[in-house]
Amino acid sequence: MQSRLPTPRSSWLCTIAAAGAVTLLLSTPSSLAQQPAGDEAAHQAFNNSCRTCHSVKEGDNRLGPNLNKILGRKAGSLPDYNYSSAMKDAGFVWDQDKLTRFMVKPDEVVSGNKMQPYGGISAEEAAKVVAYLQRAGGQ
Ligand code: HEC
Repeated sequence: MQSRLPTPRSSWLCTIAAAGAVTLLLSTPSSLAQQPAGDEAAHQAFNNSCRTCHSVKEGDNRLGPNLNKILGRKAGSLPDYNYSSAMKDAGFVWDQDKLTRFMVKPDEVVSGNKMQPYGGISAEEAAKVVAYLQRAGGQ
């Protein structure tokens, strides 16, 4: 009798393991969906905080200058946009770090800029927006 016990017990364990695997499989789609959801969240972050004033299309200036290829672009450098002198004279090239800090606290990066009214966003949101600008802005 005793020698038979392990068999049913281990098949019971197997059932548990299989049930666990099914649970895992069922819960996987949501974690797999994170990639497209990440893209979606990044786009959403841009729409929420920037789109009122900015487009990522080349030449499409609105209240703010277009953000096409903004990473690697010199600050205040579009010829057809009327920047504040603070932005025109900023004298740096936008990289991830500058852009993130500018979104969180514009005045700390370009003091006297006229990106108004703009309340600032969290560093977490800013990171999403940078990811979006990198993709959508044709970097
Ligand atoms: C209320 C309108 C408004 C909102 C919202 C806004 N901006 Fe701006 N943005 C402006 C204006 C106006 C300027 C020009 C500032 C200047 O000349 O001093 C500007 C300038 C910029 C620049 C400098 C561009 C260059 O050519 O050097 C960047 C980068 C920028 N904004 C990014 C963003 C991002 C990213 C968001 C969203 C998180 C955002 N802005 C939200 C109005 C806005």
